[in-house]
Amino acid sequence: MRAGLSGLGLSPTSEPSTGQAAAGSARPGWLVARVLLWYEAHARPLPWRAPGTEPWGVLVSEVMLQQTPVARVVPAYLAWLARWPGPVELAAEPAGEAIRQWGRLGYPRRAVRLHAAARILTTRHDAAVPADLGALLALPGVGTYTARAVASFAFGQRHAVVDTNVRRVLARVFRGVATAPVSRVADDLRLAATLLPEQPDLASRFSVGLMELGALVCTARSPRCTRCPLLDGCRWAASGRPASGGRRGQGQPYAGTDRQARGELLAALRSAPDPVEEAALRARWPDAAQAERALASMVADGLTVRHPAGRVGLP
Ligand code: ADE
Repeated sequence: MRAGLSGLGLSPTSEPSTGQAAAGSARPGWLVARVLLWYEAHARPLPWRAPGTEPWGVLVSEVMLQQTPVARVVPAYLAWLARWPGPVELAAEPAGEAIRQWGRLGYPRRAVRLHAAARILTTRHDAAVPADLGALLALPGVGTYTARAVASFAFGQRHAVVDTNVRRVLARVFRGVATAPVSRVADDLRLAATLLPEQPDLASRFSVGLMELGALVCTARSPRCTRCPLLDGCRWAASGRPASGGRRGQGQPYAGTDRQARGELLAALRSAPDPVEEAALRARWPDAAQAERALASMVADGLTVRHPAGRVGLP
């Protein structure tokens, strides 16, 4: 999948010596060339990037990566693909098996939606992941980011792909600020689109390269600017790396939340081969009102179904 970059006529790294990037200017070829060359040398050999990965594998990886760090996704991805190498195999099983296999990856509604997507692929798309952006967006659990990521990384199409890592790189290089404000997502998508090389396969590699640069070098908490191929064109570095005005995200609290209660109750259901007594399940969480709320939301989200005689189980 990854051909070398030699022979592509990239004029590697010149241009900005002290000059900085300006948002909205003509496509800065220097930036594209540097990102591509850096990615070639530094990309992690993640399993969904392996040559021969099917679009199904790319879709599964992108859904898992939506809210979970790479290190936790890798083993879950490998186990999922080993069990369900394509949508047909997953669609043949009940949704509860997807929830069971999802394990403790978090945000388990993603498993339910991936299972629903597998059934749609099987019945309406000849068991294949569609290449069309609109068809991808119509799948459960697939939003703007995931649709573009799959179209670009699985099918080599030319689409801007903007996640939090990319947004941080763009904020620093072009706007000179440490973090990307939430309100500028649409602006960042437009800016990223102006940077894309014309050639679709290069555009795809550039997008994943920018993402990887944000994940490994231009990180939120400890940026490694001395290792950054964009350092001499970066407005944020040139102005002394000012801190952003906003509060630094501490992540969402977990202990004692309804989310944790759901996690515990769902773990109990996953480990039970058959439906269990609702009262016994609820007793596994010390706060009775919270347990009731957690269970009701699990039912509403399609993570749990009620059976006769006061029993509950996976769908
Ligand atoms: N490679 C492709 N998509 C990715 C993602 N979302 N996170 C990390 N690496 C990726």
